[in-house]
Amino acid sequence: MNAGDALHITDVAPRDGLQNQAVPVGTDDKLRLIALLAAAGLRSVEATSFVSPRAVPQMADAADLLPRVAAGFPELRTSVLVPNLKGLERARAAGAREIAVVLSATETMNRRNINMGLDQALAVCEQTLATARADGLRTRAYVAVAFDCPFEGETPLDVVVRLAARMHAAGADEVVVADTIGSASPGQVKARFAALRDALPVERLAVHFHDTRGLAVANAWAAIEAGVRRFDASVGGIGGCPFAPGAAGNVATEDLVLMAERSGLSTGISLTGLLDAVDFAQEALRRPLGGHAVTWLRRQRDQDSQTPRRRLS
Ligand code: COA
Ligand code: ZN
Repeated sequence: MNAGDALHITDVAPRDGLQNQAVPVGTDDKLRLIALLAAAGLRSVEATSFVSPRAVPQMADAADLLPRVAAGFPELRTSVLVPNLKGLERARAAGAREIAVVLSATETMNRRNINMGLDQALAVCEQTLATARADGLRTRAYVAVAFDCPFEGETPLDVVVRLAARMHAAGADEVVVADTIGSASPGQVKARFAALRDALPVERLAVHFHDTRGLAVANAWAAIEAGVRRFDASVGGIGGCPFAPGAAGNVATEDLVLMAERSGLSTGISLTGLLDAVDFAQEALRRPLGGHAVTWLRRQRDQDSQTPRRRLS
């Protein structure tokens, strides 16, 4: 790691954060959350998903939301998740410029998530990436359950590496290695990224941690040490896959930013701005939110508001 290195963070709260919430969140509130993320300095968000509204009712407004995000925040890189060609078609019709496909690394997880076996899911992802690229879209490819699967146990490393390499070969601009259930440990992250780096350029790799066991920040540090600079995170630590039992929220953006900035890696993201987004998400979801650092961050903010010379950032 070099001093002055930058992390690129994609906030996935509007999609991964909201998809599993019991309280319905309206399109205006989603837009407001994205506005607060942009105001905090996020340059990239995952705004929604074009999936079956029967499978994920919370994302049913994707076609209304996306054009409003594009119009309101033209500088924001806005990705949307698509599970198949129909999703890509809907996303294109709504003006998408960046999409993410999702390939789980086990047979059972693919069936539970998108009702396809692994081979079919791989073929669909490759076809979706090819079509999106031909249309000039930027592309991300998730390799989900890349550490452990809730149905099949530890995911074989050679399978993860093979699928990540296939997504890279299919032209994915970013291959996002996902700890979908939040079971990874720093040692496992180190070993997996050592192997992944041999198969594709580390600049193309991103990582997506959940914080089920409280190790997501430690895992993020292990990924940084392995050379990864692209991270998904979710403001307030909200998140979870409805089809992966046991998954808690994503690594909180505020935890990741605090850890990075304190370690000499710049993010361009304001912690006070993130707290505004956490406060708003709490109101919308009607429950307390925030990562491990949120109590300390709020205390600093309160002190800073009394002594303006000591700004949080
Ligand atoms: N968006 C909206 N509707 C879609 C769709 C999409 N991307 N893909 C398929 N559909 C519709 C079909 O048109 C069809 O509608 P109809 O019954 O009115 O004719 C219906 O869904 C069933 O189509 P089928 O191709 O048989 O899909 P399926 O029932 O096998 O479901 C998925 C497959 C991928 C659509 C569904 O499992 C899904 O949306 N999964 C998303 C999972 C997710 O978001 N996980 C969290 C993030 S990783
Ligand atoms: Zn996730």
